[in-house]
Amino acid sequence: MQIPFFSSAPMHQPLKVELDAFWQKFYDSNWYVLGPEVEAFEAAYAAFNHTRFCVGVANGLDALHIALKALGIGAGDEVIVPSNTYIASWLGVSQVGAIPVPVEPDPHTWNIDPQRIEAAISTRTRVIMPVHLYGQACEMGPIMELAARYDLAVVEDNAQAHGARWQGKLTGSFGQINGVSFYPTKNLGALGDAGAVTTNDSAFADFAKMYRNYGSRQRYYNETPGLNSRLDAVQAGILRIKLAHLASWNAEREVLANRYLEQLREIEHLRLPTLGTDCTSVWHLFVVLAERRDALQAYLQERGIGTLIHYPLPPHLQEAYLPLGFKRGQFPIAEQIAQKCLSLPLYPGMPVAHLDQVVDAISAFYHS
Ligand SMILES: Cc1ncc(COP(=O)(O)O)c(C=O)c1O
Repeated sequence: MQIPFFSSAPMHQPLKVELDAFWQKFYDSNWYVLGPEVEAFEAAYAAFNHTRFCVGVANGLDALHIALKALGIGAGDEVIVPSNTYIASWLGVSQVGAIPVPVEPDPHTWNIDPQRIEAAISTRTRVIMPVHLYGQACEMGPIMELAARYDLAVVEDNAQAHGARWQGKLTGSFGQINGVSFYPTKNLGALGDAGAVTTNDSAFADFAKMYRNYGSRQRYYNETPGLNSRLDAVQAGILRIKLAHLASWNAEREVLANRYLEQLREIEHLRLPTLGTDCTSVWHLFVVLAERRDALQAYLQERGIGTLIHYPLPPHLQEAYLPLGFKRGQFPIAEQIAQKCLSLPLYPGMPVAHLDQVVDAISAFYHS
């Protein structure tokens, strides 16, 4: 029997009639990039995220890039990023010419540790970029306080946490301008690449609309060398249909995650995810830290159970960041997570019997 790591089929199957009808309409619409479909999705996602504006872009990396550009971040500026994140958070910073300055995660929540941020602030620091990793909201209170105290901007990387909250407030609505990804495997996923920025500031939203479109507000007149990072109408239409189901999909993820938490509790060879104070998670990924991780992964694979590693090598040790001169051992918490983390299958519509089989197989691995 195969237990896939992820499948979008249980989400897409019930929407087939609606998605097919949209496709027929889209096909004949004669409008394929930006336009009314994109505007309708932007309005719907802004309402979902409790922000005044959402501006659709081509992907999550571009969203971070554009958010930083909107704030005027560039060469020589420093941006505080987590040491434990997907490399895209750092790449957004590098792409505008700024320098990512890593801060270690809390060893329990695996999100950036607010207590460690202050020591990383220098005279060149301009932005703090919290990443709501694996679906869990960062502890935003202390981060926003610190940013206010040092006159720094906040750009949330909300690629993985659509719908997560800190003290009841949604991720993606704290920072001055924030990035979100709708890559197909995200909690809200397109059928291709897609992303957006979210903001309450009309000037930042206007900037993003200009910058995503070659730096042009008026056709064939360009005020800055911008990107081609426009959102496709087909992705916007699909995302708008799927957005109506996001809350119930997130609720399903929570039920599955709680079942894992309950059933894996007794296995002392695993460290389970822990929620920070006042934080919720939308369980984009169910990550455990596992002793003998690689052997466990191979054992599960032999039994048809798909797992993934998010992520095997932290950004500071990637070849891409050799020029920054970081050394192994410099960010030991991130490095430990990279060595031990294993993401277990979890997606809306995953049969509970599959989850129980994953638990049984993990148990058998450690008790054999
Ligand atoms: C934390 C994080 N930031 C940024 C991104 C970039 O998003 P995209 O792949 O849409 O460019 C991703 C997703 O891949 C991500 O997981």
